[in-house]
Amino acid sequence: MSSNEFYTSLNAQLEGLLSGERDWLANTANASALLFMELPEINWAGFYFLHGDELRVGPFQGKPACTRIQVGTGVCGTAVASGKAQLVQDVNQFPGHIACDAVSVSEVVIPLYAGNRCFGVLDVDSPRLARFSSDDLAGLQAFAQILLDCSDLPAS
Ligand code: SME
Repeated sequence: MSSNEFYTSLNAQLEGLLSGERDWLANTANASALLFMELPEINWAGFYFLHGDELRVGPFQGKPACTRIQVGTGVCGTAVASGKAQLVQDVNQFPGHIACDAVSVSEVVIPLYAGNRCFGVLDVDSPRLARFSSDDLAGLQAFAQILLDCSDLPAS
């Protein structure tokens, strides 16, 4: 199966899973479970939600993770500070990377936006070096957009 086919199928599953439900917490919880079940070679998938200048861990699958991350710190905080997705092939080469699990060696982080407002990030970690390609990034960005479109976002 090509990456394109994989993400077309994954994102169709997400749309089915979220259909009829717009609760943000419920939808992010189920989205993290779907990612963890379907994406091969990953060891953590989940969300951090933005509260002021701080990210706090939200629904996820995987080992317990650090609870709070300052904006501008680590891969997640850099995604929020820059407003840009981070595709990190080797986290040991990323200055300030926060190692929640020493087994994780590559990571993709997508900031979640509605208009100009950032709600947090989607974070996926892998124990394999360079696990995520630009196709994975594009597929996960589409995944995040479906999640945002299908949910009532919390008031600021
Ligand atoms: N590695 C992340 C921290 C979150 S964990 O990977 C779940 C970072 O550097 O921001």
